[in-house]
Amino acid sequence: MKRAMNPLLNRLQPYPFEKLRKLFAINRPDPAISHINFGIGEPKHSTPSFIRRALRDNLDGLSKYPATLGTLALRESIAVWLNRRYKIPAPDPASQILPTLGSREALFSLAQTVLDPSEHGIVVCPNPFYQIYEGATYLAGAEPYFVNAVAEKNFGCDYDSVPETVWQKTKLVYVCSPGNPTGAVMDLEQWKKLFELSDRYGFVIASDECYSEIYFDAPPPGGLEAAYRLGRKDYRRLIMLSSLSKRSNVPGMRSGFVAGDAQIIRQFLLYRTYHGTAMSETIQAASVAAWDDEKHVEENRAKYIAKFREAVPLLQQALNVSMPDASFYLWAEVFERTGLSDTEFARKLYEKFNVTVLPGSYLAREANGINPGKNRIRLALVAEPAECLEGILRIVEFVKTQRREL
Ligand SMILES: Cc1ncc(COP(=O)(O)O)c(C=O)c1O
Repeated sequence: MKRAMNPLLNRLQPYPFEKLRKLFAINRPDPAISHINFGIGEPKHSTPSFIRRALRDNLDGLSKYPATLGTLALRESIAVWLNRRYKIPAPDPASQILPTLGSREALFSLAQTVLDPSEHGIVVCPNPFYQIYEGATYLAGAEPYFVNAVAEKNFGCDYDSVPETVWQKTKLVYVCSPGNPTGAVMDLEQWKKLFELSDRYGFVIASDECYSEIYFDAPPPGGLEAAYRLGRKDYRRLIMLSSLSKRSNVPGMRSGFVAGDAQIIRQFLLYRTYHGTAMSETIQAASVAAWDDEKHVEENRAKYIAKFREAVPLLQQALNVSMPDASFYLWAEVFERTGLSDTEFARKLYEKFNVTVLPGSYLAREANGINPGKNRIRLALVAEPAECLEGILRIVEFVKTQRREL
């Protein structure tokens, strides 16, 4: 007898790294060359020792079932951080903030909370995008609508291109600022437009801000900050999602939060109670230590700034690439200078120089007749500076060999 399964599972696409494994299965690189991984966006700078210590000092938390709402201490610490970082009044820890196990699960479960599966609504996603948005949409019985973010528009989402009929069915919009993989930051004008659309059509905005602390110039405005500055002090239909993974180099701690519209937060808490996503009190205590400290964040940012200032001009000798507004990614065009598609570039670079990069087309879908990731690659400059530099030099060398072959 055929076993019944949720048919929506069939709609999930393989994850980009699965596609990459298949692409790389054909040829093996020279084992004498060390591997440099620019593929995965996992921070590699070391976890600050005071966070390790806070974990060790709070192991008693392991002997308790934690509450989904989290401790007041954690929610207060997050509220104070939001006030310090975004110059907004501290949100109410009792009704406007919830801890989450990083932002990934929250991006997913928020869609299950706000979407009514019987409506078969539309979820507007950036393109290229973080793949969780798409999976969360399908599993909530909705359809994604992809809005291209292209170089000609500074990688901002062109919301003017979305037809009225799509907006009418839109229930949720995912925003990613700073963007993965483009590094683009949404400015106040773009936020204003999105809030006006949300008022007109009634959709919820999920603002994914996990790269907010890795910037090279001015701090990127967050969703709550933009709302507050535009006079939307109740954060209606807006939820921001943030995380310690990149800010504090603790991707394995699984610690983040959501903040915003109190009505949505209340329903989200209900959903999460059943979903079973309460954060261990040990992790909560270490998270308080991390949110309360800014020094390690400044040091971490300085390290990225130095790395990018060195890497970008070097890479520009070989590829069309610009300094991003923020994030730890480079989003480089490869075809013009090498005649190679993104997948061919990634495969040959791996084979000849043992450097992994992610083909841009794996991070985007065909929309309005184009795949905006086509002929681009994503480089995650997460390793220590010397290793990143070595990887960039290998790419420059690789491009030279390709030019000779052109
Ligand atoms: C755009 C984006 N959002 C969310 C996440 C999830 O991060 P975490 O769950 O560690 O907070 C990632 C991770 O790479 C990401 O790139």
